[in-house]
Amino acid sequence: MEFIKVTEQYQPAIALIQLNRPKELNALNKQLMEEVRDTLQLLDKNDAVRVIIITGDERAFAAGADIKQMADKSAIDMLLIDQFSTWDQIRKTKKPIIAAVSGFALGGGCEFAMMCDMIIASETAKFGQPEIKIGTIPGAGGTQRLTKAVGKAKAMELILTGRFLSAEEAHFYGLVNKVVPVEMYLHETVELAKEIASMSPVAVQLAKEAINRSFETQLDEGLAFERKNFYLTFASADQKEGMNAFIEKRKPTFSGR
Ligand code: HXC
Repeated sequence: MEFIKVTEQYQPAIALIQLNRPKELNALNKQLMEEVRDTLQLLDKNDAVRVIIITGDERAFAAGADIKQMADKSAIDMLLIDQFSTWDQIRKTKKPIIAAVSGFALGGGCEFAMMCDMIIASETAKFGQPEIKIGTIPGAGGTQRLTKAVGKAKAMELILTGRFLSAEEAHFYGLVNKVVPVEMYLHETVELAKEIASMSPVAVQLAKEAINRSFETQLDEGLAFERKNFYLTFASADQKEGMNAFIEKRKPTFSGR
């Protein structure tokens, strides 16, 4: 594995996946997501593992999908790359997944954390969907999951402005389970994982499935709709301008085309 580190610990039965592209703030490139998918599929089949933790490092959980990998793509390129089939497979993981978030959880990083079953945040965590600032929109569930988590008004504000949500605000809005000092976020996540790992794994799996069912039928439709619009932004000059401006470290000028 090039972009993740996996630690399995069977006493208690917890596995830890650490996103490991620190220089790029754990930007989620295609290979990284495929490594996460392959690992989760193996862990799901391994009876010695009951709970999975996904984390980044202190500075960033993940600062989004890899802008450098996407910047020059067309809408059809994006459609054919079909990165979201990997995300869909990740979403099918049966065992509980807890995200331990410190620092930036932005764009695809925020969407990835929200795709996990619970989130423990350090006080330094910052959540956001800043895609609008680079001329695109969330594409991995942000418009659906953030809206369900924080409500329409706050989701509109966050997605239309790209503003960040502090850990405390994220807790207030019910996006995260708990906020703890930065030196405690991994420890606190392991404590939660241990408690869940001591329960019947069958009951845990069935409970997770049932909770997810509460919004899944509508989610599929919402995700498909969001995906089409996300791809469509790659037909705009504004997406090219936004992403290139980011890479060139300048302010974008949006033409509305
Ligand atoms: C590629 C990224 C990146 C990203 C950061 N980097 N985020 N590379 N894709 N999403 C790189 C930077 O280019 C830089 O590389 C290095 O990581 C450190 O970042 P800095 O910007 O120098 O750090 P800082 O000034 O502390 O700013 C941190 C930041 C900023 C506020 C998080 O990096 C930022 O705004 N990142 C982009 C956030 C974003 O727009 N995410 C949404 C992406 S779109 P160099 O080589 O210059 O040192 C998205 C779509 C989701 O996620 C849908 C599909 C899954």
